[in-house]
Amino acid sequence: MKTFLSGIQPSGLQHLGNYFGAIRQHIASQDETGTEGDENEHFYFIADYHALTTCRDPEAMRMQVREMVVTYLALGLDPDRVTLFRQSDVPEVCEITWLLSTVTGMGLLERAHSYKDKLAHGRKPTVGLFTYPILMTADILAYDSTIVPVGKDQVQHVEMAQDMAGYFNNTYGEVFVRPDYRLPASDKMARVPGLDGDKMSKSYGNTLWIFEEGKKLKKAVNAIKTDSREPSEPKDPEGVLLVDFLELLLDETELADWKARVREGGEGAPGYGHLKARLIEGIDAAFGPARERRRELLADPDELERILARGADRARGRAAATRDRALAACGLR
Ligand code: ADP
Ligand code: TRP
Repeated sequence: MKTFLSGIQPSGLQHLGNYFGAIRQHIASQDETGTEGDENEHFYFIADYHALTTCRDPEAMRMQVREMVVTYLALGLDPDRVTLFRQSDVPEVCEITWLLSTVTGMGLLERAHSYKDKLAHGRKPTVGLFTYPILMTADILAYDSTIVPVGKDQVQHVEMAQDMAGYFNNTYGEVFVRPDYRLPASDKMARVPGLDGDKMSKSYGNTLWIFEEGKKLKKAVNAIKTDSREPSEPKDPEGVLLVDFLELLLDETELADWKARVREGGEGAPGYGHLKARLIEGIDAAFGPARERRRELLADPDELERILARGADRARGRAAATRDRALAACGLR
């Protein structure tokens, strides 16, 4: 049996990079059968404790948590098969965080790329930002997770979780299960480009919201960077940003056809306008039904709270058992 776990911070509207790099594989995991034909377990959560390292506006926080839950559900996460919960509904992870912090050297945290990156971008070095990987490790270890589907940027954090589980187990005996990470199936999904060709990211202002539609979608697609070469000029499709976007959405046969026509140039070659129109169609087909579900879910906040309460209940049970095991191992019980 595999136990999947991952979390996403409720940091604003989720974009296509978040979808193809993270959310999609979380949702896909619910259909994976266990190695012995048994059922796997799935824990997916909204990392609101982590988000406090950046968001200090309570109203925005509430709104973003709600949006994140709705995003998961609208895109197909099934709360009957998956434990979907809010991180802060499981305070046991804070207790596990403390236990882990007593066996973790400063050096390990000082090597964290993500912390150094955040400081380089002008973030104030709070203790919470520094110990962020310990809380993330507690999230992972609390549920005996074996597979953590993440984007490339989170790999080092999962490796730190492996290290911390090792420090604790070496000191007190086998308490924690060693997790592995899992990256998206293809590199294209692991690094979705933004409208300007750089990595798509909220911090770069180059994103396309998953649920964008109509005129706003058209405007965003129109903003995707192109150059002034004529359609008839033969081009390497790898250098055409619109083709990178189509890679995310089209099936292999159709994609190969578009690429061949771009490469050959001449009369039959598509102009950027054709590629943009096909991209909009592709986005509408992929996300149209989910836009509707999102609207329905937003209109029923009580149902969202019921789903979160059920998730919290299941998650707390597991995390409390792990916490008890860890406390007993250290002699605190
Ligand atoms: P952002 O950079 O927009 O703030 P986050 O850092 O909150 O995004 O990332 C949330 C999740 O989405 C992470 O698992 C991350 O790996 C994934 N992700 C973010 N941007 C991309 C991208 N451009 N391509 C693929 N995955 C991405
Ligand atoms: N740090 C992750 C991110 O920013 C979110 C996260 C918190 C997480 N706890 C986790 C991811 C545990 C995987 C497992 O994307």
